[in-house]
Amino acid sequence: MSLNRPMLIAGNWKMNGLLSEGQALVRSISTSPLADHVEISISPPFTLLHALKEQAATKGFSLGAQDVYLQEAGAYTGEISPAMLVDTGCKYIILGHSERRHIIGESNEAIQAKLKLVWQHGLEPILCIGEKIEERENGTTNNVLVEQLAVLKNAPKDAALTIAYEPVWAIGTGLTATPEQVSETHAFVHQTLQSMEMDCRVLYGGSVNPGNAESLMGCEGVEGALVGGASLKADLFNQIISSAAVVKG
Ligand code: PGA
Repeated sequence: MSLNRPMLIAGNWKMNGLLSEGQALVRSISTSPLADHVEISISPPFTLLHALKEQAATKGFSLGAQDVYLQEAGAYTGEISPAMLVDTGCKYIILGHSERRHIIGESNEAIQAKLKLVWQHGLEPILCIGEKIEERENGTTNNVLVEQLAVLKNAPKDAALTIAYEPVWAIGTGLTATPEQVSETHAFVHQTLQSMEMDCRVLYGGSVNPGNAESLMGCEGVEGALVGGASLKADLFNQIISSAAVVKG
């Protein structure tokens, strides 16, 4: 595994942000102090992608979307296609987020179909994987991760890809995995990827905040963070960006 890749601090705004709020937030996010080594991306709701495209680009931030539909175009009322996301200037696309898996009921099959399509359009997926609390407690975390990573089995070996390991029990709960759990799980994820002849950046996500960012991102095998709640507050997000620079610097 190569850990010389730039770290990624990816903000997932989820279903938050009106135009004025999004513009103000982007204005207040600091540019990366180590821009070659720490990349910053924001994933606002679809409604703000076009509106924030230039502002984000001017500050050197990458833009990401939070989901996409699994067809190219057509009679799919309410859905968004990969080409539409490319049109807004998106580089990243979050796929398989636990809220989509567990609230919307998204399956690994659907995620696999989306992966294929987004690669065809040159988008880089941030594929989210993670176990539920009962799976951690009954010792089946690794089985769950293997099953979720199996969506990569027909992936082109050189496909642009970032994985985000996000224990479901740590998302939006204020609970975080311990550095030991993070190091151990990231090692397992990297090993599993290697066994599939893939090598890519693996982020940690789940209640990342200024108080834990440095220790979580300092864990072996962690190459950045997917940040939900704390990405909506510029002062918190800025401190997380600074922590990444400390780890990488
Ligand atoms: P959180 O969300 O930082 O609010 O826990 C993380 C995520 O959902 O990606």
